[in-house]
Parts: sequence; structure tokens; C-alpha cells
Amino acid sequence: MARIAVTDGMAPDAVVLLERAGHEVVLDFIEEDALLDGALSDFDAIIVRSATKLPQEIIEKSGDRLKVIGRAGVGVDNIDIHAAAQAGIPVVNAPRASTQSVIELTVGHLLSCLRHIPRADRGMRQDKWEKKAMKGTELSGKNLGLIGFGRIAQGVGSIAQLFGMEVHTYDPYLPAKVAKVQNTTLHKKVDTLFQTCTHISIHCNFNDETHHLVNAERIALMPGKSPDGIPCGNHIVNCARGGIIDEVALLEALESGKVASAALDVFEVEPVPAGNKLIQHPHFHGTPHIGAATLEAQARVGRDIAHAVMAVLDGKEADTTVNSHLLK
Ligand code: MLT
Repeated sequence: MARIAVTDGMAPDAVVLLERAGHEVVLDFIEEDALLDGALSDFDAIIVRSATKLPQEIIEKSGDRLKVIGRAGVGVDNIDIHAAAQAGIPVVNAPRASTQSVIELTVGHLLSCLRHIPRADRGMRQDKWEKKAMKGTELSGKNLGLIGFGRIAQGVGSIAQLFGMEVHTYDPYLPAKVAKVQNTTLHKKVDTLFQTCTHISIHCNFNDETHHLVNAERIALMPGKSPDGIPCGNHIVNCARGGIIDEVALLEALESGKVASAALDVFEVEPVPAGNKLIQHPHFHGTPHIGAATLEAQARVGRDIAHAVMAVLDGKEADTTVNSHLLK
């Protein structure tokens, strides 16, 4: 039976699932130095979240025993999937398990922006009753621009429509019929999305193409007024990946008032270094990358990744293998 390293924690039921199948589970964070010294050569599988980084140098030191890398979550930007494929190691993830939780966090951030919930709470903790300063706007009647239109964005879009928002999307990989079925306007150019929408939410992967896709030039295009003339200001939410927004440009836009509010769950550098000025801005609020941090999502993530890892250990191909196209 296999020896499986679980380095960033996992739901207890998933650990039981692996152990009941006869596998030995070692639940312990492994420091980078130990990984570089070949700590993975003692394991048949490793399951990580985002804290453990598996770049080429570490994968090359893993030896012949390692048969599968599991990412308990969606994003695999902490794993060099090409190096893994070179070493003949499938990388599997759990892409569907956290969808609902991320949808709900995104909508929470959007509502918190427009009704100043974090700012009002900060004031109350200082015994302030800032009723007049907390006039917000409704979601109803505003244009929401979704960058990327996968499962999470489609869920956010459906809820936004229930609130009376008009939903626009930019996703160069989306078949036009999906946008039509979802009753959204598909933009061919990301710039027209920014020109049309006062509210932007990000739902794409981070890669060379999306690095700083939200920058000063694009923020400058945002209209600040809804189609019916309400001066609702511009609002930006990101619960996808850090690095898609240029955080320097976002801070400048908050300082100038071009962006009325911003809420991020993900950052260019995580954990965010102390003294970061964006975090301190009164019209900013953030969460420490908690999109998938619900009991329900973590139970599903654990179960899905345990099944995917066991499938590979059984000599089968898991349907969530992210580097199957690279494996020889
Ligand atoms: C994911 O990619 O699954 C989420 O961002 C959550 C995480 O990284 O822990």
C-alpha cells in the first residue's frame, strides 16, 4: 500500500478514506530545504494545497517512487506541471469542489463593497456612528463585468441577474453559445468590458496572458455611472488569483477615487507583507485567500482529491489530471 504525504492539511474524512483503503498518511508540513534534499523520495504520493510549492528543482529530486501529485483545490500555479510530466508524474486536482464557496464569497465581497459593511464595522469599533458617510448603491440596474466565464463566474452571474444586474463577460476561450444560454453579453475585447461595466469581478486563471490584465489603462476606461445615470462609482473584486490585478495601479485608483471600492481574497504576494498600503486604504477590504475555506468545500476537496490520487495509485487515469496532455 502507498505512503502519502499530506503537507498542507486535509479534511479528516478524506484522511480516513485514504487510511481505510490501506494507505499510510503522513500529515506534516515539509520545509522547502527538506523537499530540495529529496524528502519526497520516501513517498508514493503527495497531496498539497497552496502553501507547499513544488517547482522543477523539487520535482527532479523526488526520485522514482513518487507516482502522483494531488492538488487539494483548483489552482496548480504552485506546481510545475511540465516538470512533473517530464518525470512521468500525473498532477491531479479537485476543480469542482469549491465552486459554490467561491461564488458565495465573491457575492459577499461585492455586497460588502457597495454597502460599506467592512468600513462601517471598522467605524463602529471606534465608537463612531457614521450613518451619513455610509450611503451605498444597489446592485440592481448596474453592469457586472466577469473576466473569465467558467463555473464560478457563471454562478456569480446567475446570482447577479437575480439582483437585477446586467451581466457582461470577457472570455476568449468561451463558446459564444454558453454566453447566450446564460443571457450575458460576450465581449470580444476586454477593453470594451471595462468601458461598459462599473463592477468587475475576476474569474480567470493566472498566467502570462492574464498577468496585470487589470491595469491603470483599463481601470481608466470604467464608466463610474450605471446605464440609468446613477453615480455608483467603480468597484473591483478578485477571488481568483493574485497577480491578475496590478495592485499598485489599484491603490492609485482608490487614492484618486477612480475606483470607489475594491475587495480582494487573493494577492500578488501571499501572505501579504506587513505595512501594505493597499490593505490599509479605507475603501479596500480583504480576506486571506479563503475562497475555498468552508467546511463543505474542504470536505468535497478532500474526498475528490483522495479518489483522484487513489485512482492513479491503482494504475488508472484520474479524470482531473491537469498534465495528461504533457505525459508521454
Ligand atoms: C484553489 O485554487 O483551490 C483555491 O484558490 C484555494 C486554495 O488555494 O487553497
